[in-house]
Amino acid sequence: MANVVVVGAQWGDEGKGKIVDWLSSRADVIARFQGGHNAGHTLVIDGKVFKLNALPSGVVRGGKMSVIGNGVVLDPWHLVKEIASIREQGVDISPETLMVAENVPLILPIHGELDRAREEAASQGSKIGTTGRGIGPAYEDKVGRRSVRVADLADRATLESRVDRALTHHDALRRGLGLKPVDREALIQSLLDIAPEVLQYAGPVWKVLNEKRRAGKRILFEGAQGALLDIDFGTYPFVTSSNVIAGQAATGTGIGPGAIDFVLGIVKAYTTRVGEGPFPTELDDENGNRLGTRGREFGTVTGRKRRCGWFDAVLVRQTCATSGVNGISLTKLDVLDGFDTIRICTGYELDGEMLDHLPIATEQQIRCVPVYEEMEGWSESTEGARSWNDLPGAAVKYVRRIEELIGCPVALLSTSPERDDTILVTDPFED
Ligand code: GDP
Ligand code: IMO
Ligand code: MG
Repeated sequence: MANVVVVGAQWGDEGKGKIVDWLSSRADVIARFQGGHNAGHTLVIDGKVFKLNALPSGVVRGGKMSVIGNGVVLDPWHLVKEIASIREQGVDISPETLMVAENVPLILPIHGELDRAREEAASQGSKIGTTGRGIGPAYEDKVGRRSVRVADLADRATLESRVDRALTHHDALRRGLGLKPVDREALIQSLLDIAPEVLQYAGPVWKVLNEKRRAGKRILFEGAQGALLDIDFGTYPFVTSSNVIAGQAATGTGIGPGAIDFVLGIVKAYTTRVGEGPFPTELDDENGNRLGTRGREFGTVTGRKRRCGWFDAVLVRQTCATSGVNGISLTKLDVLDGFDTIRICTGYELDGEMLDHLPIATEQQIRCVPVYEEMEGWSESTEGARSWNDLPGAAVKYVRRIEELIGCPVALLSTSPERDDTILVTDPFED
């Protein structure tokens, strides 16, 4: 029985939610392993739109178990709101179908405030363009050993001592930023108020996943963000604060790395980025506008316009390597319909030299000049195509060229936001 990890192979928003939802019919458990409600995963099922931030995209299918692993940072108030809003859309969510790891660190209001205060104080050029949801500060507290975790909500004395530990650090930091000290009593009370709602889902995710695995159940790990936002391998410091790459699926849930049988990289047929930071193939012209308009490239979480550019094979080859991608799911091919010509970046030129990877220094990343290969476009529509035979020859050529350049085969192809507008080439669960 195979377990599959889904990771974003660019800067996020590759269409992970749609693919996880599609694949979840073949899985028994769907597990988030990093990130938080900075993620915005959109699912479209028979015209009905679902937007998920903290919940795994498997919840919508029903009858599956969804888990939030220890690698995630969780805003308990957001979780409760999100569950209520998804339930309103007719989805059944209960402690039988959702489990939150007891060792998940919580995102508190002080994290969001700190995140936003830092962004406001940052000078142009050093802003990260975060989602403002407290992700960075919450992960800092985890590594700093001062998080309040889900299990701490069960006992008042423990909770108070954990909050005090966090506040010793935060009040000092807040003084420096000109923020008011934290109202300790109000924070503790609001945590106690939300506690029962969160604790009903709390459980030992590591244990349950290991048991499921032994019982031959299939686990689908759902990544958030994208490998170029990874804290180690992304365009640092313009990244998120977690490991995004596939290895994190093991540490972020408590299952051994041997449990991962197939890594599926989600790859958009062009490139987008939301927030600040280097982006070699970014287009500031008619083509960029066209990609943004046709692709409806606006952030799910913040509504910000996503920056758009041509497909960058250098970057995807690199992220396929760091995540050990076995196959990709190419999404949004339909957005390229009607372009006369389409470009693919195959290398960079920097100071007269050719590079086959993105250099580590931001200063060099900014100066990388993409080297392009031009391909013929297609005028036919690929939107909603459900078989290879429905694709125009030039579109097939484009897909094949991408496979060649990144050194990884296409396992799935997506041709619209709708769940079923998906072409299966290789089943990751059966490979
Ligand atoms: P995620 O964060 O990786 O889950 O991606 P988002 O949901 O943030 O952004 C992807 C957007 O593209 C969503 O609005 C999806 O509904 C949409 N989408 C996914 N696959 C396709 C596709 O093949 N074609 C088109 N046109 N849209 C798609
Ligand atoms: P999904 O799962 C795209 C970006 C932010 C910012 C940087 C740091 O929908 O693909 P953070 O709030 O995490 O500290 O912001 O990371 N970012 C995303 N970009 N998709 C996402 O998630 C993202 N999550 C964070 O825009 O540049
Ligand atoms: Mg998204």
